[in-house]
Amino acid sequence: MKKKKLNGLFLTNKKSFEAEKIRSIQVSLEFALITQKKKKILMFTSANKGEGKTLCISKIAQEAARQGKRVLLIDLDLHRPRLSKSLCGQNTKGLMNILREDGDLNDYVLSLNEDNLYLLPTGPLPPNPLEVISSDTLKELIAAISEDFDYVFIDTPPVRILSDSRVVATLCDGVIFVVKNGETKMQELKEAKEAISKTGTPIIGAILNGYTYNKKAKSSYVYY
Ligand SMILES: Nc1ncnc2c1ncn2[C@@H]1O[C@H](COP(=O)(O)OP(=O)(O)O)[C@@H](O)[C@H]1O
Ligand SMILES: [Mg+2]
Repeated sequence: MKKKKLNGLFLTNKKSFEAEKIRSIQVSLEFALITQKKKKILMFTSANKGEGKTLCISKIAQEAARQGKRVLLIDLDLHRPRLSKSLCGQNTKGLMNILREDGDLNDYVLSLNEDNLYLLPTGPLPPNPLEVISSDTLKELIAAISEDFDYVFIDTPPVRILSDSRVVATLCDGVIFVVKNGETKMQELKEAKEAISKTGTPIIGAILNGYTYNKKAKSSYVYY
């Protein structure tokens, strides 16, 4: 399997303030999951676009991999596949090929340049994302692929803009919300939380993205 280079979505300096925050979130996530059996397929979402879902999911996946977990990132943002594009450039091959051509998973899962970290990109975007996301084929694929990993982290579009993440939630064991400090409005978060709660999939936690502690720390992440 060809190794893909990591890029700006990932952390290179393991000792930075940001890296420490990400480690702390990952540890909190581990604790949150220890108490619940079979919680390994986790969806990251947020109320609106640009709140840091893709950034947070990448960094937390990287940290989990560094802690020895075998982690698969799946890009299920079939509208703006930033995760796939950032890591695969053209994003010509991926999930959609498996679904359309009944392809072999192993031909499309990319090994990233960090031990234990893998990515299933979207591949060419479908004209009917919601139909794809609601298909039994995708459900079976995610269930099957999750057998090979400790964690499957799924990136999704924003809850208030598209219905996709509500459907994806039904394929997952838990949901993690990303909230952008100073931008996500309480009412928007409430709306998004209610929409996800109706799916019956538990919300495991939330990450406050972009909170600044002091002048030295440009950005940080808080988990509760
Ligand atoms: N804490 C942060 N510090 C610096 N830039 C950030 C932060 N969070 C998000 N961004 C930037 O904001 C933009 C949107 O982030 P992204 O993760 O793509 O959001 P989403 O996936 O929720 O749409 C990106 O350019 C990203 O680099
Ligand atoms: Mg995104």
